[in-house]
Amino acid sequence: MRSIKNETNLQDKKILLRLDLNVPIVNGKISDTTRIDKILPTLKFLNKQKAKIIILSHVGRPRGKALKELSLKPICENLEEQLGLNVKLITQNINEIKNKNFFDNFDEKILMLENIRFYAEEETNDNKFAEHLASFGDIYVNDAFSCSHRSHASIVEISKFLPSFSGLQIDLEIDALTKITSEITKPISCIIGGSKISTKIDIIKNLLPKLDNIIIVGAMANNFIEYFGHNIGKSVKEKNCNKIIEEIISLSKKEKCEISYPEDVLVSKDLNGSFKKRKLNEVLNDEMILDIGPKTIDKITNIINSSKTILWNGPAGYFENPNFANGSIEIAKIIIKNNKLNKIFSVVGGGDTVSLLKSIKAVDDFNFVSTAGGAFLEYLEGKKLPGITALNQ
Ligand code: 3PG
Repeated sequence: MRSIKNETNLQDKKILLRLDLNVPIVNGKISDTTRIDKILPTLKFLNKQKAKIIILSHVGRPRGKALKELSLKPICENLEEQLGLNVKLITQNINEIKNKNFFDNFDEKILMLENIRFYAEEETNDNKFAEHLASFGDIYVNDAFSCSHRSHASIVEISKFLPSFSGLQIDLEIDALTKITSEITKPISCIIGGSKISTKIDIIKNLLPKLDNIIIVGAMANNFIEYFGHNIGKSVKEKNCNKIIEEIISLSKKEKCEISYPEDVLVSKDLNGSFKKRKLNEVLNDEMILDIGPKTIDKITNIINSSKTILWNGPAGYFENPNFANGSIEIAKIIIKNNKLNKIFSVVGGGDTVSLLKSIKAVDDFNFVSTAGGAFLEYLEGKKLPGITALNQ
């Protein structure tokens, strides 16, 4: 992979820079800026080299529709503030933009195109769309490790049309993860939570042969709880998952990997409510499961205490409401305690998990913290990430 940090002749070059600025936005306000903070060195480096920057990014999953609530505007404003430079958001339809429309004003240095996932062609890795995007710049830089498991136009196809480089952040992330994979020792336990069920459930299947324990928490666990015959009320769940759950269970027996899911839960009638403790057979139709209960925390504590490596991706509950942050905070505390005694090696990944750790000021208490979620798990699985492969070709 050629890294942009080794390039010296970037003056006036137009750089198409793919970033992952997929930060949590609540009522138009960014609730955690970690992903923005991390890419500031790349922007400062390119700006110092007097390059002209065109940022490409997504936020959320608008699935080809322009949704006002998923605009990059708040992110653009945050970047302006942190950099002390103008960052101009281009809201014009990308398909109507001509290359010559950019940087017509001489003090324009950083432009940002509106959410790239407003265009269905992004997720279909459309060749023509990628070629059109590429026509805006002279060089392509991917500094979005956390999106590099996606075969999308601004990650993969675009690299066919321009000299392509890795960015500063992606270099750091890959160096760290390569080192980590060689340091992992058994028993290995993986805690998987969060709500991106459909993308993670396959990953569990693939990771299973490498692990001794898989602990399923968060919204994903609801599918398991329901599969084992319990009512989950109006909890979030993914449709049509039973077949894959069956496969996971039978594979876990074959590979001797223990699968755990919650034994008790905290519920509420709505996301903003307070909690009630429930055994699995007590959840009512108008309730939703929003966190793990005390018995489950005890079980997870025992598993962590008998592990040498812990991989953690995805919170255990709806931590945005402090009433349901307890499970995730307790998991963090147990890992930190073992880490301080040098008993385990801990690796954490995922935007939400990092937000949670930041909120309890615990980011520095783990051996490695990656802002990537799905990409992080796929890398650990040993898969080749399409975005990285594209940079190597
Ligand atoms: C992430 O948050 O992991 C990345 O931004 C990728 O998002 P996605 O899972 O919606 O592709």
